[in-house]
Amino acid sequence: MQSLPEGFRAVVIGASGALGTAFCDLLRADPRCAGVWGLGRQAAMRVDFADEASLAEAAAALRQHGPFHLVLVATGVLHLPGVQPEKRLADLSFAAMEEIFRINTFGPALVMRHFAPMLDRQRSVLAVLSAKVGSLGDNRLGGWYSYRASKAALNMMVKTAAIEMRRTHPGAVLVALHPGTVRSALSRPFRGDEIGRDPAEAATAMLEVLDGLNSDDSGSFVAYDGRRLPW
Ligand SMILES: NC(=O)c1ccc[n+]([C@@H]2O[C@H](COP(=O)([O-])OP(=O)(O)OC[C@H]3O[C@@H](n4cnc5c(N)ncnc54)[C@H](OP(=O)(O)O)[C@@H]3O)[C@@H](O)[C@H]2O)c1
Repeated sequence: MQSLPEGFRAVVIGASGALGTAFCDLLRADPRCAGVWGLGRQAAMRVDFADEASLAEAAAALRQHGPFHLVLVATGVLHLPGVQPEKRLADLSFAAMEEIFRINTFGPALVMRHFAPMLDRQRSVLAVLSAKVGSLGDNRLGGWYSYRASKAALNMMVKTAAIEMRRTHPGAVLVALHPGTVRSALSRPFRGDEIGRDPAEAATAMLEVLDGLNSDDSGSFVAYDGRRLPW
């Protein structure tokens, strides 16, 4: 991450996941990075979207180490025990939609609430992992109602936060980031192991893209190869 200052500090939320782990490993191997804090449901600094207070508590515990130059939100779900992506309207239920939106949209939005104020005002990047299937313009196949809609709503949260943050943190870049198909627990039931890339390869590509973004890019939806995706 050459664009971040020497001794930059990074926070990864969802550090236990395939991409979260890969981000933490890469950043810990970067000699320019002075500190990486990996947060998650099982981490010492606990962030669990089932427990709203855990977000404020984790942010309060981290504040003494800030400001931060890189915040990566690598949480998300496509399926849960007893919940599969919906193929048709008849599959929709309140309970499943509420749970998917809580994890994919509301959780990352509250991460931005608590962590965006700790971004470095001169140069920093906050990236939230989204998904191309959350693009309204690119939706040609249908299906996966809750996942698609939760990521589309997440993108709106990121865009809106980027506009607000520009006023107080002009050097901060907030983006929604599409990782491509990656081998992980999330993609495994959908041929992820066959068609997905290695998480380390995907995370390397995404860090390169983030390194090249500047404040004019804040509020955009970008893919792992640097492409801008349609909303
Ligand atoms: N893999 C792909 O092909 C692909 C494609 C497009 C977009 N994405 C996006 O990339 C992101 C990361 O996916 P991944 O493939 O790395 O998935 P993953 O390996 O399944 O990791 C998911 C992460 O989300 C965390 N999480 C789940 N429920 C949570 C909750 N209630 N509170 C806090 N954290 C929670 C998990 O924590 P635990 O370990 O505690 O469960 C884990 O750290 C997701 O946003 C996903 O939508 C992935």
